[in-house]
Amino acid sequence: DKSGYKHFMAKEIAEQPSVLADALRAYLDGDTIRLGADIDFARIERLTMVACGTAYYACLTAKYWFETLAGLPVEADIASEFRYREPPLTPGTAALFVSQSGETADTLAALRYCKGRADRVLSVVNVAESSIARESDVALPIHAGVEIGVASTKAFTCQLNVLLLLALKAAVDRGRMTEAELAATLGELRGLPGVINAALDRDETVAMAARAIAEARDVLFLGRGLMYPLALEGALKLKEISYVHAEAYASGELKHGPIALIDKTVPVVVMAPRDRLFDKTVSNMQEVMARGGRVLLITDAAGAAEAGGDVWRTIVLPEVAPVLTPILYALPAQLLAYHAAVAKGTDVDQPRNLAKSVTVE
Ligand code: M6R
Repeated sequence: DKSGYKHFMAKEIAEQPSVLADALRAYLDGDTIRLGADIDFARIERLTMVACGTAYYACLTAKYWFETLAGLPVEADIASEFRYREPPLTPGTAALFVSQSGETADTLAALRYCKGRADRVLSVVNVAESSIARESDVALPIHAGVEIGVASTKAFTCQLNVLLLLALKAAVDRGRMTEAELAATLGELRGLPGVINAALDRDETVAMAARAIAEARDVLFLGRGLMYPLALEGALKLKEISYVHAEAYASGELKHGPIALIDKTVPVVVMAPRDRLFDKTVSNMQEVMARGGRVLLITDAAGAAEAGGDVWRTIVLPEVAPVLTPILYALPAQLLAYHAAVAKGTDVDQPRNLAKSVTVE
């Protein structure tokens, strides 16, 4: 039942503050992260993460977290590539699979390949009774509740939520973060559902931008650091449900090829909170604008103030700790795609050619 929403996707986007809060309650005991299984990241030397589609972008985001916060080397790979490459797994490697459905054929095959080869097989799943959950040594539920829209929304942010908790635990286990620093970050994480509610209030600004995006033939998404996987997710969401061709690039790659595509017909969505990489992104934005590209900047108030006046449109989000930006910036990415699809009149919840769960290769 859509509880009064026009589409399941809209309902699932709106549910994010409450399901994220539920998941935190399930995993936090005061300022201690309880995984329900003993995982000591000090004994893990390397993490191999494998998934498909949106779940893969959650892995790419988590790679930044594990490496930066915990100093734990991570390889993130697409399941259909990983499984046939038959990669050697060195001793000390844990394998981590991320899947909403827990039934994705390629992810399951990659998991089976890792059994007996990896020290430990972990999974982050939404469906607790799924094959991937059953066949893992440890399955961590994301607590998103049933997701019906083919375009994954709340499952993505709930995957990020659990992966961030894992990365924070890894940081503490590996002596990279003190208990006091952990408590401070968890405090911010607990505040995030409220911040997301504020972001949802900006829905009409996003809807206006989305109606313009819906008329474009091609759209580019750019991001650096933690925003690079978010740019990939934003582009996937847009093409999946609105059928507008969208591609994402790491901002620094722009001048290595994609800039040739820029002209006044190509909107460029730039996802960039005012973080330590912001100045570099501003110079990429200027390169785009100098070629007539229309920049839609998704940032915070400080970023909007520094970006200058030539930006086509700006979506201003509340400011949050840098480590939490991927969860917050997922919201405008989802809403842009949603409103573009509504403007185009496509079947939002059941886009053509796609299935919710891809159980064949
Ligand atoms: O059930 P899974 O998380 O394993 O599914 C993986 C992908 O098929 C899925 O994320 C797909 O990319 C979504 N439709 C994206 O919105």
